[in-house]
Amino acid sequence: MTAFKTLDDIGDVTGKKVLVRVDLNVPMNDGAVSDATRIQAAMPTIRELSDKGAIVLLLAHFGRPKGAKNPTQSLSLVMGGVEDVLGHSVMFIPEAVGEGAKAGIAVLAAGDVAVLENTRFYPGEEKNDPAFADGLAEIGDLYVNDAFSAAHRAHGSTEGIAHRLPAYAGRAMEAELKALDAALGNPAHPVAAVVGGAKVSSKIDVLRHLVGKVDHLIIGGGMANTFLAARGVECRQVAVRA
Ligand code: 3PG
Repeated sequence: MTAFKTLDDIGDVTGKKVLVRVDLNVPMNDGAVSDATRIQAAMPTIRELSDKGAIVLLLAHFGRPKGAKNPTQSLSLVMGGVEDVLGHSVMFIPEAVGEGAKAGIAVLAAGDVAVLENTRFYPGEEKNDPAFADGLAEIGDLYVNDAFSAAHRAHGSTEGIAHRLPAYAGRAMEAELKALDAALGNPAHPVAAVVGGAKVSSKIDVLRHLVGKVDHLIIGGGMANTFLAARGVECRQVAVRA
């Protein structure tokens, strides 16, 4: 397995601003988080850093606002879910970079947790623009990535920033990487991988890699249709009665 640093290597974080990339892209229903699994996944890392006296700054995306501010995709909407899972109040900072972000962070104390605004409100996030990654690096001292489900995207808050601050895997990321290594590093064969997702375009590199590692590759989700179409399978419309 490629070596990576974890929270065991992070040292004394007391009073340090730790930017933690988490996945808060959660489903909502009637204005409330309807499935908090992703928030729960990030809790061990958030609690550990907070208990050690860090100022924990959560970076995340929510939906696909394509570089523009859209109130319906503000991370302020998931604050109730974050606070429910964490069990105490969490500050929301309505910016992710710049003076607004710095001003919000300035009032935080050791052990506090805050959520910064949707990183995808900034065009530089998805472009992995160096200026945006510089802006993120300016507001923190250390970087922790705990968003495995967003780690396949080379964005400013997942990739760019990791080159600018000392970077570590969070506990959820660590568990995922260890599980992957156990499954693909030197596994007992036969091995089957089940891969799902809407679009094959963002998974094709992973699939190519898996083909050389597994005995069976099972494709599900929307992208299964791409493979069926490539085989010439006809798509038929099915009428569903209520
Ligand atoms: C997800 O919901 O799968 C992750 O949060 C990644 O979101 P994305 O596909 O919009 O990058």
